[in-house]
Amino acid sequence: MNNINVVLGAFYGDEGKGKIIDYLSTDADYAVRFAGGDNAGHSIEVDGVRYAFHLLPSGILNEGCKAVIGNGVVINPRILFQEIASVLEHGHKVDNLYISDKAHVLFPYHVELDAALESQRGGHKIGTTKRGIGPAYCDKYERSGIRVSEFISDSFLERLKENVEKSNISLKDKGFEPLNYEEIAKEYGEYAKRIKPFVCDTTTLLHNALKENKKILCEGAQAALLDIDFGSYPYVTSSTTTIGGVFTGTGMAPKYLGEVIGVLKAYSSKVGEGPFPTELFDEIGSTIRELGHEYGVTTKRPRRIGWLDLVAINYSAMINGYTGFALNHLDTLGKLDEIKVCVGYEYKGEVSTDFHTEMDYLNEVKPIYKTFKGNFGDISHCRKFEDLPLDAQKYVEEIESFTGVKVKFIGVGASREEIIVR
Ligand code: IMO
Ligand code: MG
Repeated sequence: MNNINVVLGAFYGDEGKGKIIDYLSTDADYAVRFAGGDNAGHSIEVDGVRYAFHLLPSGILNEGCKAVIGNGVVINPRILFQEIASVLEHGHKVDNLYISDKAHVLFPYHVELDAALESQRGGHKIGTTKRGIGPAYCDKYERSGIRVSEFISDSFLERLKENVEKSNISLKDKGFEPLNYEEIAKEYGEYAKRIKPFVCDTTTLLHNALKENKKILCEGAQAALLDIDFGSYPYVTSSTTTIGGVFTGTGMAPKYLGEVIGVLKAYSSKVGEGPFPTELFDEIGSTIRELGHEYGVTTKRPRRIGWLDLVAINYSAMINGYTGFALNHLDTLGKLDEIKVCVGYEYKGEVSTDFHTEMDYLNEVKPIYKTFKGNFGDISHCRKFEDLPLDAQKYVEEIESFTGVKVKFIGVGASREEIIVR
């Protein structure tokens, strides 16, 4: 019955969701993306090859697992076919890919508008991935978007023309060059033909699977604090990245929900603008960045680094109802002599554990820290919690006692095997 398992980012993204998704998808019958687009960057290593997925569910690499792109996703076919090409190149198949007829298609004018809007924001820019995500969701909610079903129909070119013309007015108005309809029609007309065999009613597909007692793994993209409603608005992405997005982005019913795993790192990272109370501006921050290779998969940007913020993580647990955490990069953090973790915020002289997403609050709070001993040594061989040095165990137990959520998976290294499962 409770056959839908979900993996969600617990902080600001890039928590290493790919690693845990890869682990859990080995016994999943379906791997499903339900929100976001190619702003996501999930890297996994399989048979010595490193894959960076932006749109394809990572489960595509597991034979016997059907990979589904749900209706809540915005799809840039150019990126999709680049990814398909890289999967095929490495000897994997893609005949296990199913794309929702209700997903929206992301076009070059969305990408261009994303850049134009960012430049117009000047000092208040969001720091988007410039993948066109915001404008694509705007079209969806404004009801002028092109869904996959229309993309593969006879009316596609006519609708595309209308949308290119409309976007060109906005682009010119923002001082950007207009786009050429014919060029887009030629390139994307080809994609429309190529995408057709993958398209189906994925909602019915998933319902039938649930009736047959199949296991479904939903792969979250982005993270709780980037959620359009619950994140630190306006420094968020344009979709529902929290638990509700699983249902609106696939059409599955909540009664089938099983495990909800929140993925976090032993420290924090964030890309893009916006508040980050535990951010480190000193040498410790740059040390963690180098040790953890904290550079974006999608944008290559150096990530902002900070201590783990349990106040924020607790808020994300409240919204998503995690049944467990997956904690990554404990090995990385354990290389420091001393570790801090934020266990409260001081605001206008008062200390609390409340998280609010208002900018005035987040920009002003001062983190209250608890200090832990580091120097865990090499923990990459640990496969049981008890194998970890006591100082590492204490750190993990602090996360559990603060949030009331058990840490069920611990990443102790980059490769597939370097994980403790409890
Ligand atoms: P994964 O799935 C980290 C951030 C951007 C920016 C904000 C809005 O790899 O964890 P957008 O392009 O979505 O309009 O940008 O959201 N952002 C991410 N940060 N990881 C991601 O995905 C992200 N996807 C979007 O940096 O601050
Ligand atoms: Mg990312």
